[in-house]
Amino acid sequence: MSPDTRAREYREYIEAYLKTLYAKFRSEPQQLLFDAAEYSLLAGGKRLRPILAFEFCRMCSGEWEPAAPLAAAVEMIHTYSLIHDDLPCMDNDDFRRGRPTNHKVFGEGMAVLAGDALLTDAFLTASSARIPQPWTMADAIALLAESAGSLGMVGGQVLDIMSQERELTEQEVLDIQSRKTGKLIHAACCLGAMAGGASRAQLDAAAQFAAGLGLAFQIRDDMLDVIGTQEEMGKGVGTDDQKNTFVRLYGLETCENLVETYTENAVSALGVFEDSEWMIQLARDLTRRRT
Ligand code: IPE
Ligand code: IPE
Ligand code: MG
Ligand code: MG
Ligand code: MG
Repeated sequence: MSPDTRAREYREYIEAYLKTLYAKFRSEPQQLLFDAAEYSLLAGGKRLRPILAFEFCRMCSGEWEPAAPLAAAVEMIHTYSLIHDDLPCMDNDDFRRGRPTNHKVFGEGMAVLAGDALLTDAFLTASSARIPQPWTMADAIALLAESAGSLGMVGGQVLDIMSQERELTEQEVLDIQSRKTGKLIHAACCLGAMAGGASRAQLDAAAQFAAGLGLAFQIRDDMLDVIGTQEEMGKGVGTDDQKNTFVRLYGLETCENLVETYTENAVSALGVFEDSEWMIQLARDLTRRRT
């Protein structure tokens, strides 16, 4: 991903913001829960979703800091989804964000609860945002909940589990990918836009961009499961070979083209923004990502 100053500034800001979240609860007796939540939340990660939120906010209003509570909320929900995704009852993975998975260190019970806490606390974090007109806090919370819940990421994870015993059609794989990964990317882009007081047309464009980027991002993830290394990815590779991925359906070469096609679809939605070059470059850089 783009190593430039803007990405670094966004990343440093969200890292500092996320560090403060549980620090203030340190006198509570449930320290182990905070340790488990922070173990995964502060383990690095690309912070793509906060970066998207900040940049959409900036493209709509010229300011990006107002998106911070919503950017953090999406990153908390994303982190919880990874903790649960890695559990033995799901993908059963041992390595994530450059370290042993949460349940390997804290045990399955605490890993489930750290995920529960991150999900719920994300809404508390989001509630501290200031949402400018024409949007309301209710709009933002509804979008976050819908993206994360049974119609969104969780729904996609359910379809992913249900599909493991059979071959899927292209449409079914698209549906899974756009929910399990696409919906939180949708939340990041649209909530960033809302925090920037987006017009209806700008919000629709953010959603259209997210739909293309989400698919491209997950297809690239499936490719990296085959061509990536554990050192670069910070997570185990070759672990999804029994899954219904695009790589399994079409092979690597076609996937490379699909990543480009979906990325260009995404980019074509950005015409309503005056200053979208940086976002276009970010989306294109992600097609070649190795991490
Ligand atoms: C990994 O997401 C899981 C998917 C949805 C593909 P990321 O590749 O964004 O993981 P981090 O946040 O950088 O660890
Ligand atoms: C992840 O899909 C989607 C989530 C909602 C967590 P994967 O199962 O392919 O993600 P990785 O490869 O474990 O990061
Ligand atoms: Mg999975
Ligand atoms: Mg997984
Ligand atoms: Mg994967």
